[in-house]
Amino acid sequence: DPEETLKARPPVVTIMGHVDHGKTSLLDALRGTDVTKGEAGGITQHIGAYQIQTKDKHKITFLDTPGHEAFTEMRARGANVTDIVVLVVAADDGIMPQTIEAINHTKAAGVPMIVAINKIDKPEANPDNIRNRLLEHEVIVEKMSGDVQDVEVSAKAGTGLDELIEKILLQAELLELKARPDRDAEATVIEAQLDKGRGPVATVLVTRGTLKRGDTFVVGTESGRVRALIDDKGKQVKEAGPSTPVEVLGLGGVPGAGDQMTVVENEQRAREVAAYRQEKATEKRTALAPT
Ligand code: GTP
Ligand code: NA
Ligand code: MG
Repeated sequence: DPEETLKARPPVVTIMGHVDHGKTSLLDALRGTDVTKGEAGGITQHIGAYQIQTKDKHKITFLDTPGHEAFTEMRARGANVTDIVVLVVAADDGIMPQTIEAINHTKAAGVPMIVAINKIDKPEANPDNIRNRLLEHEVIVEKMSGDVQDVEVSAKAGTGLDELIEKILLQAELLELKARPDRDAEATVIEAQLDKGRGPVATVLVTRGTLKRGDTFVVGTESGRVRALIDDKGKQVKEAGPSTPVEVLGLGGVPGAGDQMTVVENEQRAREVAAYRQEKATEKRTALAPT
């Protein structure tokens, strides 16, 4: 993309960490919401995508991932569209299997990490122990003279939140994140399902350009036309720019998470691209089939 049309875009921050270390609670505290309350058994079952605006008008997009073992695939997916990972570690618990898995995903994706040591309101919290244990996994935080930013937080008491935001914005600045808003959109499917009343619905994260109502697109091997866009607060919007999570209505079918959505000039072109992608997918399957 030519340099002059590139504009700064919000960072996409994925929250990762072990089960019940407080990922969703931390996001709730940052957003002033109460998502955790509505979760069955207090378990996050999907990737939530939200955007906040800071006091000084910076936008940050957050992806919330489930810590439960069954959701490895979803966490891997989260790591792929991410600029920055916030690794949540409960100070009263320690480095656990999904903590280690999150560290590995982050390293594999080559994404910078910020460690949020959570639940420091608890009497048994031992943040220095967490810092020491992280060394064993080659995560060396600032307080241990490393270059991984760390911050002590309590989602419950609301402490350390401003500091966490500051560190995210500092890291984002170093990354110089840019995108062209004035072109046809590309987006990545975060999740998708068949909704009883509304038909196939996908939550996508716009990666380039601006997605608009009325746009014709291909997503995975399906084509469609944007009938409605709904933001993370449930409000209908006309368009969504780079780094914005948005719900899309008007899909021909239910795409897979991780599928690419590409806006094309018209429906005929959409059908062509969809058919091409279908063919490619079939070829791949044939090539992989045992003889
Ligand atoms: P999964 O999505 O299921 O992996 O869990 P999660 O990491 O999103 O954790 P969640 O936000 O569901 O919180 C788990 C439990 O820890 C809940 O009972 C929260 O109330 C509690 N909790 C979260 N943050 C804090 C904190 O800062 N202090 C204390 N004392 N409890 C917390
Ligand atoms: Na939980
Ligand atoms: Mg959760």
